[in-house]
Amino acid sequence: MKDRKLAIIGCGNLGLSILKGLLEGQTMPPAHITTTRRNTESLAHFKAQGVHVTSDNVQAVRDSDVILIAVKPYNIRSILEEIKEALAPSRHILVSAVTGVTIREIQEVVQGTLPIFRVMPNTAADVKESVTCICQENAQPTHVEVVDHLFSRIGTAIHIDEHLMEASTILGACGIAYVMRFIRAMIQGGIQIGFDTKTANAIVNQTVLGAARLLIERKAHPEHEIDKVTTPKGCTIVGLNEMEHNGFSSSLIKGIVASFEKIEKK
Ligand SMILES: NC(=O)c1ccc[n+]([C@@H]2O[C@H](COP(=O)([O-])OP(=O)(O)OC[C@H]3O[C@@H](n4cnc5c(N)ncnc54)[C@H](OP(=O)(O)O)[C@@H]3O)[C@@H](O)[C@H]2O)c1
Repeated sequence: MKDRKLAIIGCGNLGLSILKGLLEGQTMPPAHITTTRRNTESLAHFKAQGVHVTSDNVQAVRDSDVILIAVKPYNIRSILEEIKEALAPSRHILVSAVTGVTIREIQEVVQGTLPIFRVMPNTAADVKESVTCICQENAQPTHVEVVDHLFSRIGTAIHIDEHLMEASTILGACGIAYVMRFIRAMIQGGIQIGFDTKTANAIVNQTVLGAARLLIERKAHPEHEIDKVTTPKGCTIVGLNEMEHNGFSSSLIKGIVASFEKIEKK
């Protein structure tokens, strides 16, 4: 990837998270990255670091090899129309992070044999801890290598079938919000039992990080780790059961399913 140039078309929340993760991880020289948006003022800080900043999407495509589109779904079609003449299947790899827009819909505008990827990262790309679900069409192994490399520098890359892309949006991208709400609730509980906000935050953040690392590094099942901390008649099981009586797991699952039903209706 160090030799390839990247354009991020639509450098908003997600594009910025990816940009920051790539710069921090020194994945490529800043001068190999072009970012676009219509109002570029908010990208001045990155321009000062050597990143190309422009509103000219076509020029960004001409100057780059990997084209990452990170605009809202209602903006993608006009952008594809705008850049399609500049896209060369022998050179470019098109990567769309746009929710709900299928590879077939992209191909309807961008015809030919262009390698097209759909990716679903999350905003933890900012700290190089995204999970990015990926699927592709017309891609050679070298294209897959390039895209995998890019997204593995900002977290973990997982290949899935395209029909699971919406589900991955819910679990991975919306998942950040669900986990944040869970963390916030734990902090509020911590304050109620005596901690100041700062200390409660520190304890909860590290506890969540530690729990995730236990599962990832030990490849453990959550229930196995729960068993380790639930003494018979102890305070953990009392608390856990109280949470379940109040619908903890059920409300989380229902929320995930409601989000999924909403995305499926779009
Ligand atoms: N945020 C997430 O966690 C997340 C995660 C996974 C996937 N996604 C998907 O990623 C996409 C972007 O989401 P977001 O939250 O980053 O949205 P966002 O903050 O609104 O960013 C989109 C950016 O596109 C720019 N834009 C609009 N029209 C443009 C044009 N013609 N040329 C160049 N830039 C243009 C906008 O800036 P200007 O108005 O200045 O042009 C804006 O900064 C969405 O499809 C979303 O579903 C988001």
